[in-house]
Amino acid sequence: MSLSHAEKHALYQSLVKQIAALIDPNASELSNYANVCAAIQTAFKHWWCGFYFVNGERLSLGPFQGPVACTSIGFNKGVCGTAWAKAHSIIVPNVHDFEGHIACSSESNSEIVVPVFKQGTIVAVLDIDSIYFNTFDEVDALYLEQIVAMINV
Ligand code: SME
Repeated sequence: MSLSHAEKHALYQSLVKQIAALIDPNASELSNYANVCAAIQTAFKHWWCGFYFVNGERLSLGPFQGPVACTSIGFNKGVCGTAWAKAHSIIVPNVHDFEGHIACSSESNSEIVVPVFKQGTIVAVLDIDSIYFNTFDEVDALYLEQIVAMINV
């Protein structure tokens, strides 16, 4: 899906509102993660959208939408492990240029990974893959950071 700057903003603004209403403080965290992932995917229809949870020294596959994916990623490995290690979002315009990129699917060409913080500690990362190059930019990072910040409150 190719979106104009204005269309992307509008889609995220409605998604943020939807997710604010969707997150249920009485539901399990896992249920909320699953619904957030589904809401993002329904809005944007990217190739892959999901969470990896911090599990000791590794990231373990959590709720996702899309094709099957790697189940475990090491600290500082791949885009996900690097976002975890660096503790900030990483936008990858071309995954083939990212040293150490872990290719769960040969269809993916660009990617964004956003850490999820809980009380100042990273507990998960949100990973989104696109079949198109240059899909993600600072607008995605801005809104996705806002979205994941709503999960663990
Ligand atoms: N590409 C990721 C691995 C996860 S899959 O894309 C779902 C990475 O390099 O960390």
